[in-house]
Amino acid sequence: MGMEAPFRNKNMLNPQRKLINLYRIAPMMGWTTRHYRYFFRLICKKAQLYTEMLTTGAILNSSQRDRLLSFDESEKSLAIQLGGGVAADLAKAAKIVEPYGYSEINLNVGCPSDRVKSGCFGAILFKEPSVVADCVAEVCAAVKLPVTVKTRIGVDDYESYAYLTKFIQEVSLAGCQTFIIHARKAWLQGLSPKENREIPPLNYQWVYQIKRDFPHLTIVLNGGIDSLSAAQAHLQQVDGVMLGRVAWYNPYLFAELDALLSPQKILMIPNRTSIVLNYFPYLEKAFISGENLSPLIQPLLGLFHGVAGGRRWRQKLSEILQGRNPLIEIKEIVHEIVSRFSEKP
Ligand SMILES: Cc1cc2nc3c(=O)[nH]c(=O)nc-3n(C[C@H](O)[C@H](O)[C@H](O)COP(=O)(O)O)c2cc1C
Repeated sequence: MGMEAPFRNKNMLNPQRKLINLYRIAPMMGWTTRHYRYFFRLICKKAQLYTEMLTTGAILNSSQRDRLLSFDESEKSLAIQLGGGVAADLAKAAKIVEPYGYSEINLNVGCPSDRVKSGCFGAILFKEPSVVADCVAEVCAAVKLPVTVKTRIGVDDYESYAYLTKFIQEVSLAGCQTFIIHARKAWLQGLSPKENREIPPLNYQWVYQIKRDFPHLTIVLNGGIDSLSAAQAHLQQVDGVMLGRVAWYNPYLFAELDALLSPQKILMIPNRTSIVLNYFPYLEKAFISGENLSPLIQPLLGLFHGVAGGRRWRQKLSEILQGRNPLIEIKEIVHEIVSRFSEKP
């Protein structure tokens, strides 16, 4: 799409950009759970984490708010993503979540699922910039936290650079200074959410151009980034990057990030075995206190991605879920890992 962007003048990149905001791990329903986030922090401290999307309805009506909203200190810096399209409800929800210690409130304007469409929020809001602007303005007025928006570059026939510009302009004037832009459009009919993450083509040039046209805003690029080197290349053009699926399928990719971002300090890169050993006490405690085993185990599945024996690791974990004495079996597998995969720190 369009011409190749010229190499950006680095001076235009937001001078206030903080290290933690360069790399963000995308909100992913069912994946970026509390357990995943705890696990991820054993691998990497220097990426901003996001919760799964929480709808205003879930927050306002929950009888177990603390369970829904509290999180472990180690997960910080953690942003909460809200799903909703009614400004007053979003403002109420924002007031409720603020004391829990989140660093940012993010509004979902990108999710195309049926549930979200019927609730009139998520990607459909892209067609209503004035509604998004009202939502942002009310949330900004209700809380002190920064309010950010995660959006697509287009939805259905609302797909032109001029329209995207209008959206960003209107919403930024309402108080949003940071936009996370998934660089592909979404089709609300005919494609499943999964297909909407794969079929519409990526168009990074529009996101780069938004940064050039709105140099005072913080622009974060999302979509299809699958390595730290690709991320570093995008960071020449935009203020931040957000990575999603790769952080689930290959979380160990981020083990080098802390060292990459602190070149002056010599940081130890945690090895996979130590990550498992450090996660196990958390898993054990949570399981004994009544948490379901499957969501506790799932974050571990991708840890040995691309490593010999990785498939066996996944198989073993799946077997544990079917087994009778999961804790004993996990201890066994941890021992096996320590001997099999023992890596030098
Ligand atoms: C399982 C799954 C659940 C997702 N849930 C959300 C969500 O709750 N909110 C949201 O804004 N995006 C959600 N997304 C989209 C991601 O945040 C991200 O925008 C998308 O995966 C593209 O980034 P990637 O190519 O780096 O994966 C989800 C993606 C996946 C794979």
